Amino acid sequence: MFAYWDLAQRTTWYVAAMSSHSYYNSDLAWVHHVGYSHHAEWTGPGIVALLREGGLQPSASVLDVGCGSGLLARQLRAAGFAVRGMDASSAMIELAREYEPGAKFDVLRLPTGLHPGDDGALPESDAVVSTGHVLNYLDTRAHIAQALSEMARAVRPGGLLAIDLMTEAFCDRRDLSQVHAKVQEDWVIVTRFSRPEPYRFDRAITVFRSESGTWRRSDEYHRNMTFDVDEARRILRDNGLDASLRTSFGAESLPDGLVVLVAART
Ligand SMILES: C[S@@+](CC[C@H](N)C(=O)[O-])C[C@H]1O[C@@H](n2cnc3c(N)ncnc32)[C@H](O)[C@@H]1O
Repeated sequence: MFAYWDLAQRTTWYVAAMSSHSYYNSDLAWVHHVGYSHHAEWTGPGIVALLREGGLQPSASVLDVGCGSGLLARQLRAAGFAVRGMDASSAMIELAREYEPGAKFDVLRLPTGLHPGDDGALPESDAVVSTGHVLNYLDTRAHIAQALSEMARAVRPGGLLAIDLMTEAFCDRRDLSQVHAKVQEDWVIVTRFSRPEPYRFDRAITVFRSESGTWRRSDEYHRNMTFDVDEARRILRDNGLDASLRTSFGAESLPDGLVVLVAART
């Protein structure tokens, strides 16, 4: 009976993983790396300070979930931590390997549906960090809950978890009619926002990139699911982590409704 349930559950996660959306394909991954590095620059010092205050020693292992192109990983490495980054986008992982070769990066899509220690599961670490509301990219609340449990279970005794999370308040404050655009010499990004249903915050993103005198256009549609803080804290508690809610990792200022959860495994 147990084996059947285990198999059925794995099959469900496998099907879920296969139907997940693909985000940050090559041009958008590159634009994120060159044009939006300020987010990691602002959050990095606060995360490093939190880890040090939490008792992490130099060379402690830090897992960066949804690491993108390695912008935060570089700061964590500079602070002396042994960094492992994981991300669903192979374009992001390619950039990260080039940008911060001292860290180890792998393509991995959450939720894995695996148990700690299984081949392909999140590796046990002294700290698990995640920035850029990575969990909100998952397709359903059940997937977010599962992924958060997996991240919590990867935290070793005495370790820490520090993540940001997009809540409904983030979207309530947003003027959806405002288009975000950035124009640079060799790239342009235009983002339109919408709320197609409750708890959804979507972005239609168009990128133009110039290479060897030719402009190339690519489009991505990002679906974000908001998630409730109390529910997140309950999930962390159920997995042995006591979480506190903050408005930022450190001295940086984050948009309203983008909250930070810092949790310790005692
Ligand atoms: C806004 S970016 C943040 C990147 C990086 N953490 C930063 O702060 O610059 C969100 C990241 O989440 C990754 N992501 C989205 N869905 C994912 C999933 N199911 N599993 C793992 N990573 C995912 C994306 O590929 C992307 O790199």
